[in-house]
Amino acid sequence: VIDISKLYGSTGRFTYDPGFTSTASCESHITYIDGDEGVLLYRGYPIEQLAEHGDFLETCYLLLYGQLPTAAEKADFVNRVTYHTMIHEQMSRFFSGFRRDAHPMAVMVGVVGALSAFYHDSTDISDPQQRMIASLRMIAKMPTIAAMAYKYHVGQPFIYPRNEYDYASNFLHMCFAVPCEEYKVNPILARAMDRIFTLHADHEQNASTSTVRLAGSSGANPFACIAAGIACLWGPAHGGANEAALNMLQQIGTVDRIPEFIARAKDKNDPFRLMGFGHRVYKNYDPRARIMQKTCHEVLGELGHKDDPLLQVALELERIALSDDYFVEKKLYPNIDFYSGITLRALGFPTTMFTVLFALARTVGWISQWNEMVEDPSQRIGRPRQLYTGASTRDYVPITQRR
Ligand code: ACO
Repeated sequence: VIDISKLYGSTGRFTYDPGFTSTASCESHITYIDGDEGVLLYRGYPIEQLAEHGDFLETCYLLLYGQLPTAAEKADFVNRVTYHTMIHEQMSRFFSGFRRDAHPMAVMVGVVGALSAFYHDSTDISDPQQRMIASLRMIAKMPTIAAMAYKYHVGQPFIYPRNEYDYASNFLHMCFAVPCEEYKVNPILARAMDRIFTLHADHEQNASTSTVRLAGSSGANPFACIAAGIACLWGPAHGGANEAALNMLQQIGTVDRIPEFIARAKDKNDPFRLMGFGHRVYKNYDPRARIMQKTCHEVLGELGHKDDPLLQVALELERIALSDDYFVEKKLYPNIDFYSGITLRALGFPTTMFTVLFALARTVGWISQWNEMVEDPSQRIGRPRQLYTGASTRDYVPITQRR
């Protein structure tokens, strides 16, 4: 018989909360979500205003330092990030160790995890300066690593960063330029890319951010923690949902097949779910989904794809689901991933790159949350408890006597 009081402290009590639906693991000043009202604030600023008027690097500054930069602070920050965009040349050889058909997220987990093997001057987490260099390095190098993962995936030579470009333009350039051919970044598409990064920059204690914090709580170095976050983000219930949402829209194919898929999503004997629908926290329209829908229209309009059949399927699917009792009662609304897949595909990315782009953008959120945790004196190593329901104490039986 197990003495429960020994396991769970003198009171013998603890909280059993699968999925942590009502357990706060930390105090945070970074991001606020009101899921019932569909509100998302970064350091108090509504996501709509940041996406409309700001840019991604300004948002990075805001998340890291807690306030919007002045013009001089922003110029200095952009300069410092730009300084770190290259990766160590030896790292570029890592890529060839992967099979060509490896999923780019697998490559990201490996290459980002290996950063700590190259940048020894930014792994001492007790030194605020080292922490800041690590943070800038992560923000600066993720586009380079992501673009290299893409180039490796499609079998093209790597394109090095061009530091005269802004963050999003540089990323598009590294992904889509090819040697010996003129490539001009379309400013409307670069602006859309930048906005997509801003929308994904942070989202308080989601699964990957909690993973980063949990890994960091043991004192692990920041590069290792971000690699853990990338691994977690990969899952289809989290960052992989944009890939899954686009696959689903392609599977539906035409508007007339929507009722069949709605019926499947409601059928409890069918594991199928509407991907890009529902959210643990938002029980209202995800504010990012609204901006993403607008961005999707802008990108498709610019590229002359306004009649993209998948957009028609998505709009109609949303319309039908939002007037269906099942989705209304369960408060299932489109989330950010519903329209991001169509937009990213139009920008030229294969579905396998979608979660990589999410990881690139979320890196600033992860690293800001990691910094906040390291600086918080009340934080201890993360160590969830469990409700043990296994066998009670029993004696070892020699193998010859077992039945
Ligand atoms: N389609 C159909 N039914 C759904 C969906 C959906 N997309 N999402 C939830 N439900 C139903 C569930 O079947 C469940 O029904 P029940 O009460 O009859 O059992 C109820 O709604 C609650 O669902 P849970 O899974 O308990 O909700 P949870 O908060 O754990 O999950 C999640 C949230 C994972 C996002 C879920 O809504 C889902 O799987 N959605 C599809 C995947 C997706 O789009 N993920 C992206 C999330 S956003 C992000 O990570 C950036």
